[in-house]
Amino acid sequence: MRNLIDIKDLSVKELEELIAVAEDIIANPAKYAEACRGKKLATLFFEPSTRTRLSFEAAMYELGGNVLSVSSANSSSAAKGESVADTAKTVSCYADIIAMRHPKEGAPLVASMNSSIPVINAGDGGHNHPTQTLADLLTIWREKGRFDDLTVGFCGDLKFGRTVHSLISALSRYTGIKIVLISPEELKLPSYIKKDVLGANSIEYKQTTDLLSVMPELDILYMTRVQRERFFNEEDYLRLKDSYILTPDKLKMAKPDLSILHPLPRVNEIAVAIDDDPRACYFKQVLNGKYMRMALILKLLEVNVK
Ligand code: CP
Repeated sequence: MRNLIDIKDLSVKELEELIAVAEDIIANPAKYAEACRGKKLATLFFEPSTRTRLSFEAAMYELGGNVLSVSSANSSSAAKGESVADTAKTVSCYADIIAMRHPKEGAPLVASMNSSIPVINAGDGGHNHPTQTLADLLTIWREKGRFDDLTVGFCGDLKFGRTVHSLISALSRYTGIKIVLISPEELKLPSYIKKDVLGANSIEYKQTTDLLSVMPELDILYMTRVQRERFFNEEDYLRLKDSYILTPDKLKMAKPDLSILHPLPRVNEIAVAIDDDPRACYFKQVLNGKYMRMALILKLLEVNVK
């Protein structure tokens, strides 16, 4: 039985296979419409979500399966003090696969160790968000046609941004990748990721606080919001929240084929005026997330569609 807790639980070959299945789903949706008939996905979300929970649920419905959903911590027995381990054992009696989001780093891993069905990490605190990375990778593939030889700028809250951590981990397995880390001093990428991921894979990277100075170099700009829910102090959040606001004039120095990604939700960090720019890919990411989650559900449930 396989789980997806960290993006590195999938090999590069398996990522390519998931992308190929997602592309086939896009081209031939009817072929997959009954693939998970009789199967149930439990979405256990102990933190707010729009895209991840609904795209998982849409994915399972489009595969012909059903969904059981916990959409907030308060609506489950977690509010009475039930442990993640007991929750996982319980849900294993009702469903065939779990997608779990939790504010505590490591909670989906604990769930997977106590579950008799596959567990997918749908975001754990400020740690990882591997299925957002699947959405990001399909978007990069469709926009650029490659993962090698790309200069990727990550801008905003690189400390708490779990989507950033997972995507850097995924990209570090390709060649010719250059990473540009753009953040305020207080929101820099954690040292353990610089050492264990970038350093360990000899990935070229630099850090700056100045987005405009690096804009001309970038093939991909991955914007992120400042993660209010991870701050201990509201004053610090208010001081840092508008550190970077991407506006059309700031794109004057960007490459004509830049791809602008954002995991969403957006707060203030990309002006709405950019949405009509052909370089804006963030709503494509939203849709790509559904297709990659469909491919992932099929893989973890070991369903082969001919
Ligand atoms: N990108 C993402 O995780 O969005 P949600 O928080 O809406 O699920």
